[in-house]
Amino acid sequence: MTVKSKKVLVIHGPNLNMLGKREPDIYGNESLADIDMSLRQKADALNMELETYQSNNEGDIVQKIQGAMDSVDGLIINPAAYTHTSVAIRDAILLLDIPVIEVHLSNIYKREPFRHHSMIAGAASAQISGLGAYGYTAALDALYSRFSQSL
Ligand code: DQA
Repeated sequence: MTVKSKKVLVIHGPNLNMLGKREPDIYGNESLADIDMSLRQKADALNMELETYQSNNEGDIVQKIQGAMDSVDGLIINPAAYTHTSVAIRDAILLLDIPVIEVHLSNIYKREPFRHHSMIAGAASAQISGLGAYGYTAALDALYSRFSQSL
């Protein structure tokens, strides 16, 4: 398989559809559409296939991860508030045998104590926290690099 045929799924969790309007001092001024557009440009430049998905519902996110089992080569996920609560999303990620990168716009370890624990981190390959929207770009770069090594 070549890098050209690798597919990456990006999942954005609850309230991330409100980026730009939502606590801009914490999450920045970029909208989710802006973030997805620059990811798409980056994926095109790297000849990777990209799908982006946002949901405010835990069950829908679980369903999307299950659907990725045989069709996706890498997952980037910002589970948002579900990071701190969702055994179901963690268990769904454990079904996958692909690299999974957990991304947070803010540095969750500098915020309220309830955000310091991620249910997802132990099931993910890596975590990026506190780089803002660049965290998604860095995650895509990291997956590209991983795929290139396994050629
Ligand atoms: C977040 C951090 C979470 O604690 C929060 O609930 C979010 C966004 C982040 O990207 O920084 O919704 O995942």
